[in-house]
Amino acid sequence: MAPRKIIIDTDPGQDDAFAILFALGSPAELEVVGITTVGGNVPLALTAENALKVIELAGRADIPVYAGCPGPMVKKLKTAEYVHGPTGMDGADLPRPTTPLQDEHAVNYLVRAIMDAPEGELTVCTLGPMTNLAMAMVMEPRIIPRLREVVLMGGGFFQGGNATPAAEFNIFVDPHAAHVVFESGVPVTMCPIDCTYTAEMTVEWLDRLRATGKRAAIEAANMADFYRQYGSHKFATSARPIHDACVTGYLLAPELYEQRLCNVTIDIVSPETIGMTLVDWWHVTGKRKNCTVLRRIDPDPFFALMLERIGALA
Ligand code: RIB
Ligand code: CA
Repeated sequence: MAPRKIIIDTDPGQDDAFAILFALGSPAELEVVGITTVGGNVPLALTAENALKVIELAGRADIPVYAGCPGPMVKKLKTAEYVHGPTGMDGADLPRPTTPLQDEHAVNYLVRAIMDAPEGELTVCTLGPMTNLAMAMVMEPRIIPRLREVVLMGGGFFQGGNATPAAEFNIFVDPHAAHVVFESGVPVTMCPIDCTYTAEMTVEWLDRLRATGKRAAIEAANMADFYRQYGSHKFATSARPIHDACVTGYLLAPELYEQRLCNVTIDIVSPETIGMTLVDWWHVTGKRKNCTVLRRIDPDPFFALMLERIGALA
């Protein structure tokens, strides 16, 4: 079978970097046709530069990288240097990229790429606030029926939130964008923190990643060592959820995930719960089931696959 064509929309972010490297280490199954960047974990200038660093680390400077929206549709940007460090990808010792960004704005690229591709060919994977994709849908609604699927890291339900008690970071930063995408009618698969919290990256696994001796794997392990410094007040062990990589894992091995088709709505009005993903897991509302919700992952085969694929990079 031909590899599945995907566009990765991202705010690197160490866990975003893992998701991208995981995908680039899986060329038989996934073809990353483009990367779009958004303000999120850190401001856009840094997320764009970090995306270029990651493709160069993977030896894939051929992949076009586009800068998109610097901030959310309505709210003011909230960043997460407290998790990712001032550069957004602290821990890795990577040179300033020599690969240029594309001149085209990411939103214009999304519209053009989706309109030019055969209907149902492209999947968009969002790993940060969904601003770029939402803006593309508002600008050109005809892209909506042309998309195969949107697979996102974001949201939370039984787990609550990580940015506020009710909201996960990606959705909290731009709840209005998430609302546009979830209500658009496009097939949505959501990987919330309920799922990513079951994908706990351990020190032992990072040692095995480093032991591959490959530069991409070593730098990934180095950035993970910074990333896992945050959260000792939240997690009982030194393991940390590798959130965004769970999106790539789903594309490669969906059978590893407990999943259910549900109705999901986004709170965009309540001051205390804005950004909450209201998941009708028991289908009590009778509302349209607009989202496949991933609840749990089988961690051992997931991490074995990610080790194999990132370890396959140079
Ligand atoms: O809540 C986790 C998400 O927020 C991840 O995508 C992480 O990179 C941050 O963007
Ligand atoms: Ca992210």
